[in-house]
Amino acid sequence: MNESGNNTEYNGGKPEVNIIGAGLAGLSAALTLARMDIPCRLISPMPSERAQSVMAEGGINASLDTMGESDSPDEHFADTMKGGVYLADPNAVWNLCSNAPKTVEMLCSLGAALKMKDGKLVLRNFGGQKKKRTAYAKSSTGKILMTALIDAVRRYEAEGIVKRYSHHRLYSFDIADGNCRGIDVNDLHTGRLIRMNGSVILASGGMNSLFPGLTTGSTVNTGDVTAMAFINGVEIANPEFIQYHPTTFPITGKRCLVSEAARGEGGRLFALRKGEPWYFMEEKYPELGNLMPRDVVSREIELVKVDKDCDGHVYLDMTGLDRLVWSDKLSDLREECIRFLGTDPAIKPVEVSPGIHYFMGGINVDEKHRTNISRLYAAGECACQYHGANRLGGNSMLGAVFGGYTAACTAASEADENNTGIEELSQCRREIMQPVGIPDEAAKLLRDSLGIFRSGETLEAAEERMQELIEGEKNELQKRRMILGRAVLLAAQNRKESRGAHTRTDYPEKDDVNFRRTTIVTYSEKEITVSLRDIPEKRGESG
Ligand code: FUM
Repeated sequence: MNESGNNTEYNGGKPEVNIIGAGLAGLSAALTLARMDIPCRLISPMPSERAQSVMAEGGINASLDTMGESDSPDEHFADTMKGGVYLADPNAVWNLCSNAPKTVEMLCSLGAALKMKDGKLVLRNFGGQKKKRTAYAKSSTGKILMTALIDAVRRYEAEGIVKRYSHHRLYSFDIADGNCRGIDVNDLHTGRLIRMNGSVILASGGMNSLFPGLTTGSTVNTGDVTAMAFINGVEIANPEFIQYHPTTFPITGKRCLVSEAARGEGGRLFALRKGEPWYFMEEKYPELGNLMPRDVVSREIELVKVDKDCDGHVYLDMTGLDRLVWSDKLSDLREECIRFLGTDPAIKPVEVSPGIHYFMGGINVDEKHRTNISRLYAAGECACQYHGANRLGGNSMLGAVFGGYTAACTAASEADENNTGIEELSQCRREIMQPVGIPDEAAKLLRDSLGIFRSGETLEAAEERMQELIEGEKNELQKRRMILGRAVLLAAQNRKESRGAHTRTDYPEKDDVNFRRTTIVTYSEKEITVSLRDIPEKRGESG
């Protein structure tokens, strides 16, 4: 209902875009549309200040070459493709890497207070990259970027071009004949159900509800939007690729991240082998050592934990870091360790183990962030696009901001001016509190079969039991989540090779001939189908 009390709101015939999610990708999309004078609605269960993006720590990648690093977009591209074990669309990755410097400069122009020295951005080392390429603000980079974007979007909220719907949740899609016409949205405060016409950009984050207690991500990022999209015919890609970040520790209800920045600044992983410190990453990988890509580091930690000569624990030693590194670059990480562990990492090594940190797979989008449904787009962690089989640290915030921008540009160029307005549908008194995760037995099936090491036998048994649980589940929300979970199991079962974050004990080798392809999962008439699709060829010399 608009301020004058009418049930329907019109905007004078301009196209409209609905954005679900108000983190980095959603804000970036909103800002892009607003700058083109295209009205949009920013819909999210929490205000932007509580989005998961605020929690992002280490930094944002761009080959800025500010201090003579001799870096280039080509090298950023090469590292991203290699880190993702050549599973991402090279054209999309080229767009990302070649636009990264402009993206970071745009954020700085909004006032993002990234670390500067002598008027130039300071870059730090991050995993899987030989060059310093990660711009940062201590280990609170997400907070700094979000603050700048929230502020920039606020101006357009004041002008009425961006309309905020915080504390609102997606209730249903209006998808017919392969076309998305709009969404119904539930007001979590009043229970109202509102019909919103126009195109839709999904920017709703990862699938954390499938792994309760095991993720570093926000429990508000449930994956429910992805599950609902899937049930409505939207393709999911590569859901089997789940990133375990090597250095996390448990806190109540989730896991806490010890940023890769700690290793970028000189932190060292070790285990006690026969009572002596063993710096296993440095010994096994002399070139990148502790800064190997995350899939490699996490696998090595798991192997060391079961090494008969070790005692089952792995530690991150940050005691050698310089006093100035602590004060200028990692003071917030230090405070977090003290607050949650009661350990000062400058004095004592911190025990760490891998925790789920990112979903490389998700809603399948093309280079322009289009899904298989027209006028429905996706960006940020809910989308599968830039990261292939394993994401490099520092590329997620970049992917979210650039992805939101790209999705908005595409949505603007394809928007339907005749499909606009909102309408109040009815009072909706349904239960609006959502459970945090899926039911215990389903969660255990996913946890036990989708770890760092997986086997066909375990995946098959989990998938069969999940199907029985789905049939017996009465709660529609939980049923959708479990269907999404089953899709992940089927995708993991189907990928009979080891690549990036997906390691099969029964298929330990990479198989480029059969599996350097994108997994596509679809849902139709209660059936889930898994297939493999060819990855596009890279165009031209440099994209
Ligand atoms: O370790 C980190 O700071 C995480 C960064 C990222 O996932 O990009």
